[in-house]
Amino acid sequence: MPTINGKEVGPVGFGLMGMTTRKPQPPIEQSFKAMKAALDSGSTSWNAGEFYGTPDWNSLHLLNQYFTKYPEDADKVLLSVKGCVDLKNLRPDGSREGVQRSIDRCLELLDGKKFLDIFECGRVDPNVPIEETVSYVAEYVKAGKIGGISLSECNANTIRRAAKVHPIACVEVELSLYSTDILENGIAKTCGELNIPIVAYSPLGRGFLGGSIKKLEDLGEGDFRKMLPRYQPEVFGENIKLAEEVEQIAKQKGVTPAQVSLAWVLSYSRKNGFPDIIPIPGATTEARVLENTKQVTLSEQELAALNDVLKRIEVKGGRYPAAHAHLLNG
Ligand SMILES: NC(=O)c1ccc[n+]([C@@H]2O[C@H](COP(=O)([O-])OP(=O)(O)OC[C@H]3O[C@@H](n4cnc5c(N)ncnc54)[C@H](OP(=O)(O)O)[C@@H]3O)[C@@H](O)[C@H]2O)c1
Repeated sequence: MPTINGKEVGPVGFGLMGMTTRKPQPPIEQSFKAMKAALDSGSTSWNAGEFYGTPDWNSLHLLNQYFTKYPEDADKVLLSVKGCVDLKNLRPDGSREGVQRSIDRCLELLDGKKFLDIFECGRVDPNVPIEETVSYVAEYVKAGKIGGISLSECNANTIRRAAKVHPIACVEVELSLYSTDILENGIAKTCGELNIPIVAYSPLGRGFLGGSIKKLEDLGEGDFRKMLPRYQPEVFGENIKLAEEVEQIAKQKGVTPAQVSLAWVLSYSRKNGFPDIIPIPGATTEARVLENTKQVTLSEQELAALNDVLKRIEVKGGRYPAAHAHLLNG
């Protein structure tokens, strides 16, 4: 079992973003059922954000309500929360004031119902050296107010610099059949060397690999993916071919495309000198959580078939809109 900050977690984690950002939002009882199912299936590392939603209703409000209803679950979950974003303009703020504002607000919203196990700045602030940002978060660890520090969407050099200031509990970066960069750009290797587990975000390619999005019209009104380069009309038809091939491989195996996709991510865990890799699929229903936590193992031939798909099909479009590009691999 992987360990994050000394706590054992299930091999597959759980992303809560959709529950407070989706339009329309799932009913809270539906979210509670999905959260309960995650825990019951051993999916114990939960991923949330101060900016997943609005100042009045975001992940932290949902978590407060969940743990108020199920206080016995609080110690079973390793909770990681992203913050340090100026909520007025959504710019990263890794200054002392930005860090303190964000952690204090997260703690206020959790209200003692759940310990804040891991805090991370959602993006590296290009205007503040990472050593300084990490030292401000570390003050909260030393005071016992939070459990540990993670980095999000960072590069290998940032990881090395940050780890010199304070132990880094995990690193959260994108990894899926649609986004394989970290396997090649030194991030996975560096985390392996420093023994820092990787939390793999958007492991289903933001839904491409779930098998339920076949055409652009399947995205509802206000779905933020319509702003992402890979979901633009000029490239969507090309990009969906990758998911179609994964679906074929899943059919032959008698499992679902989401399960194949998560198994592919997991196949890199502790391989090639990489550390534990824990995918955190986002899902808003109990059924999807149960599907995603039912692990399948891929044979060497199946892995080779998937890697052959990756060689043949080039994903078109960046991970985020151009305006956000300067904040990636920070
Ligand atoms: N650090 C960062 O910068 C960053 C960025 C993005 C995300 N994250 C974290 O990573 C988590 C996951 O990422 P994500 O939500 O962007 O992408 P994802 O996990 O790749 O995909 C989520 C999408 O797949 C759908 N889905 C899930 N399981 C499915 C299944 N079995 N069959 C069919 N469809 C399925 C979900 O549907 P429903 O939601 O409708 O159930 C949702 O639309 C987030 O919750 C967040 O915690 C971190």
